Amino acid sequence: MGLRLGLLSTARINEQLVGGARLVDEVDVVAVASRDLSRASEQAAALGVERALGSYEELLEDPDVDAVYISLPNSMHVEWSIRALEAGKHVLCEKPLARSVEPVERAFDAASAAGRVLAEGFMWRHHPQADRLVELLPRVGELRVVRAQFSFALDADTLGAAGNIRLSGELEGGALMDVGCYCVSAARLVAGDPVAVTGQQVTGGAGVDVRFTGTLSFPGDVLGHFDCGVDTADRSELEVVGSEGALLLSDPFHAAEPVIDVWPADGSPERVEVERDNPYACELRDFAAAVAGERTPRLGREDAMGQARTIAALYESAASGARVTG
Ligand SMILES: NC(=O)c1ccc[n+]([C@@H]2O[C@H](COP(=O)([O-])OP(=O)(O)OC[C@H]3O[C@@H](n4cnc5c(N)ncnc54)[C@H](OP(=O)(O)O)[C@@H]3O)[C@@H](O)[C@H]2O)c1
Repeated sequence: MGLRLGLLSTARINEQLVGGARLVDEVDVVAVASRDLSRASEQAAALGVERALGSYEELLEDPDVDAVYISLPNSMHVEWSIRALEAGKHVLCEKPLARSVEPVERAFDAASAAGRVLAEGFMWRHHPQADRLVELLPRVGELRVVRAQFSFALDADTLGAAGNIRLSGELEGGALMDVGCYCVSAARLVAGDPVAVTGQQVTGGAGVDVRFTGTLSFPGDVLGHFDCGVDTADRSELEVVGSEGALLLSDPFHAAEPVIDVWPADGSPERVEVERDNPYACELRDFAAAVAGERTPRLGREDAMGQARTIAALYESAASGARVTG
């Protein structure tokens, strides 16, 4: 038996996570908990999970569960991460952990106090494509610009209402929280933490950003820009441009077709094929290794703090119209 993982909620994303877990010997998904037992039972049957529980509390009290996967709406991530850590569980919490720094600090303080692992679930960072991207960075020469895009279109009937967690202000939805955070994660992987940002948003749903564009200034005069949306046609792309060439990823975040095009300043592009893997399986292998004490999780406190700091600054800029530094 591997790490015994419980799912906290019956979110749609659980299906992907469980699909990844089936490929990982070190992890067994043993339970799913819902506010409503019938929903938990239905998902347990659909995903082949052994046990269904009728409350989140029961999952945290379950001695046969070592770790929990938190797939709740964004506004509940930190509260339930802390509750799980205090109950002695390791926590893999879906992205984004929070939209400001202070709750992230509290969550990691709780992890330290409990001696348990806490990781933020940016699965794309665990796929071999992200490692290959970092390895190829020297090919662009001196880094100049990072550009990222991630958008998709929610059902038109859902837009304008809060039927989807992504459109609820109360649940901390929004395009930046949902998909823009991947663009931020990608820019930070390549260029480090920004020193200044600007943001612009279009508001919809129940008071959330349905589209967001941002600019990021990094040390060394490196610039970044991104856009994201939940009311815009499907696309995701990442481009890293330097003094001598560029790298282009046309499926950076799901990595279903993992290839990196290397564009030298002179000459024809070279296509670098990357091994296929399931990003959720990659994420779970990292999490299980961290729980086993073999290494620290790839995405620990420092990364989560950088994410939250940048997202908070982007929202502050979008609200005030001013460039936010520091
Ligand atoms: N890494 C990825 O690839 C990826 C992809 C998609 C989503 N995500 C993240 O995963 C999380 C879940 O997203 P999702 O689209 O899968 O969510 P979802 O299908 O809308 O499910 C959210 C779940 O949260 C529970 N919940 C508790 N309080 C709720 C409330 N007030 N309103 C609505 N649901 C509530 C519900 O479970 P019960 O009713 O059973 O308690 C519900 O099934 C988000 O943080 C999102 O950013 C990550």
